[in-house]
Amino acid sequence: MSLATIARRSLLNARQSPLAPLAAGIHSTPAANLATATAEPATHKQPIIKTFSIYRWSPDTPAEKPRLENFKVDLNSCGPMVLDALIKIKNEIDPTLTFRRSCREGICGSCSMNINGLNTLACLSRIERNPSQKTKIYPLPHTFVVKDLVPDLTQLYKQYKSIEPYLKQRTPAPERENLQSIADRKKLDGLYECILCFCCSTSCPSYWWNSDKYLGPAVLMQAYRWMIDSRDQFGHERRAALQDPFSVYRCHTIMNCSRTCPKGLNPGLAIAEIKKQMALEG
Ligand code: SF4
Ligand code: SF4
Ligand code: FES
Repeated sequence: MSLATIARRSLLNARQSPLAPLAAGIHSTPAANLATATAEPATHKQPIIKTFSIYRWSPDTPAEKPRLENFKVDLNSCGPMVLDALIKIKNEIDPTLTFRRSCREGICGSCSMNINGLNTLACLSRIERNPSQKTKIYPLPHTFVVKDLVPDLTQLYKQYKSIEPYLKQRTPAPERENLQSIADRKKLDGLYECILCFCCSTSCPSYWWNSDKYLGPAVLMQAYRWMIDSRDQFGHERRAALQDPFSVYRCHTIMNCSRTCPKGLNPGLAIAEIKKQMALEG
């Protein structure tokens, strides 16, 4: 085969290959441009500068009004979740930025906050990568704020304590395990997974206006979890303790709670089940 034929075939192959434009480009690139191209590291990326607009308030300066503060983060040097951005801002820009977190995998419930209008967990929230849109972060709504993104959960935990969230039995404790059938254990699915992040309670309008008397979805779902536990012997008393116009009946089944739950649970349904049991008991 002549040299001219080989050259013609190479050109043909290059045009038919998916890499043809690239190959053609390389062949036609002037030497100077090629040098520039090879001098740049292959991993170099254009910065993606994202603005995080974060609620700030400090008890150290109580006269100052709460404000939103903007922080800019290059998403190429940041993990993918909103919690990663918060940690980066705290580590590299402003160490006074205050928020709760622990597990960073949706298990501890510490990092609940309001991100772009939705109550959720910062560690399970992917950063929206469009740099032209700010990510707005507030503390859980309708809570007193301890500092920045840290809500005061005192009232919620007081209410949680009030439902006695532990096994209660009249009969003496068994010598070994408290046995439960597989079917009875299954009844706890969708309830025991709650991590008490309180995204649901703080998204509930009824809870916003009556948090002193209405228990709210997170606490009521836990109350139900003990009512239907086959090993618990105080279901009737647990329901009787809720027989007033506020504890349960302030729920109007709007379902904000179930829509917002970052664990995909359904506290609204649990409340409906409590109401049903209470109605049947009279
Ligand atoms: S369903 Fe009940 S608990 Fe859930 S948001 Fe509506 S009123 Fe609140
Ligand atoms: S039900 Fe969901 S939103 Fe409510 S406290 Fe539990 S995990 Fe959080
Ligand atoms: S850090 Fe534990 S749930 Fe987000």
